[in-house]
Amino acid sequence: MITRPLTGKRIVITAGPTLEPIDPVRFLSNRSSGKQGYAIAQTLANAGADVILVSGPTALDVPEGVQRIDVESARDMLHAVESALPADVFIAVAAVADWRPAEVSSRKLKGEKTARAAIELVENPDILKTIAHLGARRPRLVIGFAAETHDVEAEAAAKRKRKGCDWILANDVSGDVMGGDANAALLITEEQSEHWPRAPKGEIAQRLTDRIARLFSTPASC
Ligand code: C5P
Repeated sequence: MITRPLTGKRIVITAGPTLEPIDPVRFLSNRSSGKQGYAIAQTLANAGADVILVSGPTALDVPEGVQRIDVESARDMLHAVESALPADVFIAVAAVADWRPAEVSSRKLKGEKTARAAIELVENPDILKTIAHLGARRPRLVIGFAAETHDVEAEAAAKRKRKGCDWILANDVSGDVMGGDANAALLITEEQSEHWPRAPKGEIAQRLTDRIARLFSTPASC
């Protein structure tokens, strides 16, 4: 028998990179395949959740049973997430560009061929932090990701507090995680840290889905 423990739960998840235009042909972005976020969207949908995947540009197909909203910039991603609320869970997996060009040129920048050029950057909104501080509209469970190369546990625990989210899933990216198919992970909650051994992204996704389902089966906690 197939168990669908997240039936009736609405989950909004971000994935992929954001793309911040400089002019009509150029942009700033982050390296992100979107694989981990898409894998999580798929396992959540398999568990019966109503999943809205807010995705930056990726080469991936829409996971079965998932509603995808395509966006490019961080500001568009934040707007799409806010429009998709209310939700029971928000999961921020996207590799959001921290900065965007202060001005977007409507014409292709030609410029003189100088040895140096500068683009003024301004800070993008922090989507995870914004959703974690929404007050009454805040999803019951807010989960962030952290990619760390050293002091993974301490850095991720500090990030959990700084962002105001409930859980952080930290990846050790000192190996070849970015764009690869396997991750080692550490789940940090208020009470504990759980080490998850290196496993394919689909297994990490299933584990996270199981943890979320467990939380919702004990209504008083979180
Ligand atoms: O601060 P840092 O980028 O390391 O935080 C990573 C976490 O925050 C991820 O969950 C990412 O999706 C989220 N994030 C976000 N908006 C940003 C920057 C990061 O939602 N502008």
